[in-house]
Amino acid sequence: MKYFYFIAIPLILYAALDRLFYTWLPSNYVFDHKVIGELVRETIAEYPNNNVTEIIVNLVPKLQATYGKEIINDLNWEDWVFNNAGGSMGNMFILHASISEYLIFFGTAVGINGHSGVHFADDYFTILTGNQKIGYDNQLEPTVFLPGDCNHLKRGNVFQFTMDESSYAIELAQGWIPAMLPFGFVEVVSSTLDFETFYRTVLYTGRDMIKNLLNGKF
Ligand SMILES: *[C@@H]1O[C@H](CO)[C@@H](O)[C@H](O)[C@H]1NC(C)=O
Repeated sequence: MKYFYFIAIPLILYAALDRLFYTWLPSNYVFDHKVIGELVRETIAEYPNNNVTEIIVNLVPKLQATYGKEIINDLNWEDWVFNNAGGSMGNMFILHASISEYLIFFGTAVGINGHSGVHFADDYFTILTGNQKIGYDNQLEPTVFLPGDCNHLKRGNVFQFTMDESSYAIELAQGWIPAMLPFGFVEVVSSTLDFETFYRTVLYTGRDMIKNLLNGKF
């Protein structure tokens, strides 16, 4: 009888996780990275001067027109926060956060180099300005992503990346978002001790997740 549980419990767990990741989570997705990519390329074409501020200011209303103002937060310069993770430091603005997705602006004014992190989510990183250069562990020459390009980090994969100064992207993550949060927080206690940034990140993420949960958006 003991051996029955050795087999049954892992099988039940496996079936539950399989359902969670492949059925329940995707059924909650609001965004489509292809649609976001089209809006990005349309906006970039309108601002050939590559001014990141103008591109971001004009992309947000397009996202709101497509997905609704209750889904996409208004741009608020007070709510940009630093993010230290995987040895890299950038700044970000949360457009949407839920249990199954987040959509943020992420980038750097001065340039960064870091580890992608290992995530239970697919990550679509569409460049707005500047660039992102990446290399996987078996890669000796960089893959370069430029404005309008989308870098898809598949769930569980990892790379090293750099972004030059004034490089910004819109990042869509789809998967089990709570599992991604420790990656974004551990350097606060192990390195930066920037508890104000930590507090604001938790506040903006939590606020939006709860708002979306109350609207029935997981
Ligand atoms: C980009 O546009 C903003 C807002 O119009 C302006 O304040 C800023 O100086 C511009 N940046 C550059 C590098 O031209």
